[in-house]
Amino acid sequence: MNAQPPAAAATDISTTPEWDAVGDAVAELADTSLRELFAADGGRAGKFTIHACDLHVDFSKNLITESIATKLFALAKRADVAGKRDEMFAGRHINTTEDRAVLHTALRLPRGEELSVDGQDVAADVHAVLAQMRTFAERVRSGEWKGHTGRDIDTVVGIGIGGSDLGPVMVDKALRAYQTAGIRARYVSNVDPADLTAVLAEIDPASTLVVIASKTFTTQETLTNAHAMRRHFVAELGDESAVAKHFVAVSTAADKVAEFGIDTNHMFEFWDWVGGRYSVDSAIGLTCMLTAGPEAFDEFLAGFHAMDTHFATAPTRENLPIIMGLLGVWYSDFLGAQSTAVIPYSEDLSRFPAYLQQLTMESLGKSVRLDGADVAYPTGQVWWGEPGTNGQHAFFQLLHQGTQLVPVDFIGFANPAEDVQTSDGSGSMHDLLMSNFFAQSRVLAFGKTEDEILAEDVPADLAPHKVMPGNRPSTTVLAPRLTPGVLGQLIALYEHIVFVQAAIWGINAFDQWGVELGKKQAGQLLPYLTSDAAPTKGAAAFDGSTDALLAAYRSARGR
Ligand code: F6P
Repeated sequence: MNAQPPAAAATDISTTPEWDAVGDAVAELADTSLRELFAADGGRAGKFTIHACDLHVDFSKNLITESIATKLFALAKRADVAGKRDEMFAGRHINTTEDRAVLHTALRLPRGEELSVDGQDVAADVHAVLAQMRTFAERVRSGEWKGHTGRDIDTVVGIGIGGSDLGPVMVDKALRAYQTAGIRARYVSNVDPADLTAVLAEIDPASTLVVIASKTFTTQETLTNAHAMRRHFVAELGDESAVAKHFVAVSTAADKVAEFGIDTNHMFEFWDWVGGRYSVDSAIGLTCMLTAGPEAFDEFLAGFHAMDTHFATAPTRENLPIIMGLLGVWYSDFLGAQSTAVIPYSEDLSRFPAYLQQLTMESLGKSVRLDGADVAYPTGQVWWGEPGTNGQHAFFQLLHQGTQLVPVDFIGFANPAEDVQTSDGSGSMHDLLMSNFFAQSRVLAFGKTEDEILAEDVPADLAPHKVMPGNRPSTTVLAPRLTPGVLGQLIALYEHIVFVQAAIWGINAFDQWGVELGKKQAGQLLPYLTSDAAPTKGAAAFDGSTDALLAAYRSARGR
């Protein structure tokens, strides 16, 4: 039996002595700075660097001392992060509001391992679907699978939204260098017709395979796009029977997939214990397996598993997700940070910040604890970012000289997928990129004082504008190369950072009730946008603002 009763009233973590001790530790920073901390301890970088899997992570440029770190580790202990982690890995129903296990870690268990949850060997189920995906991907990639008119498939279109889109889109871009079979992917997610129209203009249905990805197979955007895509294919290929050769589905809902008209033999299953935002390594990643191949996908899964093993076994003080999770709690709850920036110095990883936005903000944007009581402290942060160096020419000014505290995660790679020499022959473009990567965290941490600026003969009235305050925290994640395995490690790292923070805050990182009301109200509003008769006050009034907006919309639409 893995089912767990809902959590009883829990301790408010902010009433514990461990929380108070961390709060008191803020004073340790009052009379010091990163400049001074580095000057005082030549070994600081070494003390605050972790090697986990293929990642070299330097968190020495964070606003911490060894004594602060010790207090944060005590807080993790008090919140029983390790115990809660073990419950997740074991398949307990830690998603109490939906009475579900949370087992994305089972998606990457190596073949042959067993994990019985609620009487079911979930590892065996996972490997059965992976085998089905591999066989299918090989048929498509080899040209054995033909379209309705006998053409090879050269384009895959993923239709999904949220967790059924952001992961595949991000991974597909990140693994560009591994896509050697001549199959490209396109994605449609938004119910804005512009998204669908732009993709339709680019594809030839005769050589396109559509993967409809939806855990529930009820999501308005996905079903609307899928039906429109299907109509287009039938019209272009002349025949309903084309659907069988051009549409497959990824879902937990076989009945709804069949209702749509897809043969369930062409459905790739996953399970309710995989949250949408934790699903890119399930069958939801099928488009990525089609473009990058089953071997790359296996490597990708192995990367996740390596990070899972690190998280499950490394001692707390060497445990990267625990350390990075604690840093987030430190900044958010004790130093007042409201956002975290993630800056990949990798164009291939340009969708990683968008992917992390759902992972972190849908998971941690909660204001009640697992026991239903209001939280008494900030939870979650706004996560955002763009690749470097582009971000440097956009928002870095605020990071360097603005008034807000924004911790930054820099992610970079020692080796590029391919390199180009600079025109003067002096070096590689990748080295140029990475010189910026190293410079930015250095400038954020150490800045430049007014005295240093005046010493360069800068006029006194200009000097204050040029002062770089420094003492701005960042973590640097350096990996040898953006391989499928390293990508899996990075994703799992952030999944577990989210877990650690939720465990400390005592919130449920695996439900998302906050997205429901807006969906429902859109359904209620739609008739008033489309009906011939204008909504009349009284029977159909919403609120003053919405009524006026609807009237303006209807007038602009000529209704
Ligand atoms: O609206 C939020 C959400 O439920 C996400 O959690 C999920 O990833 C997304 O919608 C898509 O859901 P589905 O895969 O069921 O279409």
